[in-house]
Amino acid sequence: MPQATYHFPRGFLWGTATASHQVEGNNTNNQWWMWEQTGHTDGTSGLACDWWGGRWREDFDRAAETGQNAHRFSVEWSRIQPTPDTWDEDALERYRAMLRGLRERGMTPMVTLHHFTDPMWFYEMDGWEHDDAPMLFEKFVRKVVEALKEYCSLWCTVNEPNVYTLSGYVAGLFPTKRHGLNVAKRVLANLLLGHAAAYHAIHEIQKEAQVGYALHYRPMVANNKWSPLDRLMRNIQYNGINMAFPSAISAGVMKSPMGNVRIPEAKGTQDYLGLNYYSVDTIAFDITRPQELFGKRYYPDDSDFSGTKFIANIPDGIFDTIKWATRTYPNLPLYITENGVEDADDKMRPRYIAQHIHQVWRAVNFNFPVKGYFHWSLVDNFEWERGWTQRFGLWGVDVETQKRIKRPSVDLYAEICKENGLSSEMVQKYCPEVFEKLFPV
Ligand code: BGC
Repeated sequence: MPQATYHFPRGFLWGTATASHQVEGNNTNNQWWMWEQTGHTDGTSGLACDWWGGRWREDFDRAAETGQNAHRFSVEWSRIQPTPDTWDEDALERYRAMLRGLRERGMTPMVTLHHFTDPMWFYEMDGWEHDDAPMLFEKFVRKVVEALKEYCSLWCTVNEPNVYTLSGYVAGLFPTKRHGLNVAKRVLANLLLGHAAAYHAIHEIQKEAQVGYALHYRPMVANNKWSPLDRLMRNIQYNGINMAFPSAISAGVMKSPMGNVRIPEAKGTQDYLGLNYYSVDTIAFDITRPQELFGKRYYPDDSDFSGTKFIANIPDGIFDTIKWATRTYPNLPLYITENGVEDADDKMRPRYIAQHIHQVWRAVNFNFPVKGYFHWSLVDNFEWERGWTQRFGLWGVDVETQKRIKRPSVDLYAEICKENGLSSEMVQKYCPEVFEKLFPV
């Protein structure tokens, strides 16, 4: 049996990612809480993982004790700026304590400034549809960065602007007042302006800052590569879902299926690119889906499916994602800012982790500049419209008792972090079913 270890470069960041609303609990002043109380989600966030009650301490201990040297979390705008004219200094102090907590545990923080939640006052004025949104976001960002800069220099402005916009304004799954492709285009343009303003503001305040955003990137293949309609649909979906932010940051023009928008301010506004990768979509032409621009997105029936079939385990896709990013932005540092799977029984997660990290290692070996990997997630947390029905944590959470339940993947990921690599012994021990794929004879 072959024996080998796929090592990563020195200084590689190994961590997990979380988001305020999903872990803090009692976030009563944002639009998601309102959405939950009005019956749009599968259950409510409630106490979530009780991080606001202080349980971040024990969860950061878990992360540090299992070898993680980084953590990505988000700050909650609705706590920090509960009304347009007030700042909650206590809330900022709590985030400072969390950042100190990470530093004391030897972990590098990445702070996300917007992860799907908006304060209610912002939502009521029509949120990111409003022309003042970018300026208001910049004001918030300035306040946060001034307060937290002592402990953090790695900033993620906006998490998955494409998912935020399409899940809300097109699919109607996330809280919004209006729907439609034109509104979505406006929201994306404002998010881009907000991102660009934040990028410049952060650099003004902190010279050494590294600023980027997290892109949910979906590689896509045509259902039948010989079918011109499937190929056309694949290209429309691919550009519509993936390209708004990247095109504006490359060339100052946001590409959108509803027409392009010139946003010169956005050009070059990234010091790194964050990539959230989960799976690959297959696209077929489907006349019955005008809402989705006549494209059906699905996973083939013979896929290696996750617990609720939300994700198909397609590890090559993370390599293709990194390759795309490297081709698009040569030499730009990359972080995998999210990658993970919902799997309450931890049947798939060990192989999902090993196979994806193996692909990241392949990319690093091509000298693609990947600097870190943040697994989604540290503990089970509130999965937006899907509530508690999906479990993405390395540790499970019993929502009633707040008890943490260690899944086998914890030990695998701990070994990877501590070794700064993936070994044949690890694969043999935690997911022997993929041994030959990862260590062929
Ligand atoms: C989001 C996370 C979410 C994860 C799993 C990503 O799109 O950034 O907030 O929990 O996917 O669904």
